[in-house]
Amino acid sequence: MKISRLVEQIPPSGIRAFFDLVLGMKDVISLGVGEPDFVTPWNIRERAIYSLEEGYTSYTSNKGMAELRRDISRHLQNKYGLKYDHEEEILVTVGVSEAFDLAIRAIVEKGAEVLITDPCYVSYGPIVTLCAGTPVPIKTPSEKGFKISPKDINKACSSGTKAIILNYPTNPTGASYSRKELTAISEIVARRGLIMLSDEIYCELTYDFGHTAFPVLPGMKERTVYLNGFSKAYAMTGWRIGYACGPREIIAAMTKIHQYTMMCVPITSQMAAREALKSGDRAIQEMKREYRRRRQFVVSRLNEIGLSCHMPEGAFYAFPSIRSTGMSSMEFAGKLLASQKVAVVPGTAFGASGEGHVRISYASSFENLKEALSRMERFLKDRP
Ligand SMILES: Cc1ncc(COP(=O)(O)O)c(C=O)c1O
Repeated sequence: MKISRLVEQIPPSGIRAFFDLVLGMKDVISLGVGEPDFVTPWNIRERAIYSLEEGYTSYTSNKGMAELRRDISRHLQNKYGLKYDHEEEILVTVGVSEAFDLAIRAIVEKGAEVLITDPCYVSYGPIVTLCAGTPVPIKTPSEKGFKISPKDINKACSSGTKAIILNYPTNPTGASYSRKELTAISEIVARRGLIMLSDEIYCELTYDFGHTAFPVLPGMKERTVYLNGFSKAYAMTGWRIGYACGPREIIAAMTKIHQYTMMCVPITSQMAAREALKSGDRAIQEMKREYRRRRQFVVSRLNEIGLSCHMPEGAFYAFPSIRSTGMSSMEFAGKLLASQKVAVVPGTAFGASGEGHVRISYASSFENLKEALSRMERFLKDRP
């Protein structure tokens, strides 16, 4: 059977490949998948259950329920002073995953170059490739705090560069950007006439300084597609709901694709999302407090056992260096899994520059983290 060349060009997800291995094993402590270990707060679940009892089981407007889009608009206005028209500038999507896919499909065509950071979230490069565009990775090594600078962006731009994807706090490194750093980036984005796709799905999980939404920066609302969702902040990964906000022509183009593919997000998830925006803040703060405690523990234990690790500024990932072991990140993760039954993700799953690191998710119970770190210590001691 002849498969599309574009599809053949993209590799299967590095994380999935590794975790298929984990699934077949018993008693593994998995610090691999990037999802909260909390269940969705009860009031959100209850609202969804009640909506089913009330008989809300239909399709909704393709763009998402008007009430939800209004709630999102109000939320962004209250939080950041951002003004998005709920009729034309907001689209409710099946997670940030769909929002990102739609945004790329709406703006990228054959030959267009899209700047991505390396390492970065696994789907960015492949989705650009699927649209016949060219992902252009910009290395963000640990010496640079895993961040890109305006200079890096300028150097990577060509006449064919259409857009840049920035995700902060960042998966997999936990790095984030101050307002000053983002302002410097916004200046080069404007000068180069780029579209910014800003994936801010971890915006609620920042530990050291406040989060700045990219479109609040001068001149950026007009050229930014702002992507956010409910998966991480509200522990709602399984509900599959997110949203995109941006210039009306881009949102209209994204909506056109969404109409033919997803049609709309399940109404139950939209009902739950309304409740999350209404009353979810306390739950976010509670989960964040726990993530902060774990971050401190994991990072200090990693440094103690000889795996140098910077303090991540956000999200729920630590990204220690494993260079001192002399192993590749794949070898390290494979041997750790085989000998100690602890699963971490090889840094190369996120791009070539992830070599020399592994990603450890601390969205796992404190007990699990304690035990996993002890096993890792044993692993390093037992090495020949
Ligand atoms: C940076 C980033 N963007 C998007 C997603 C996908 O999120 P969603 O569940 O909203 O599709 C993830 C999930 O891990 C992520 O880490």
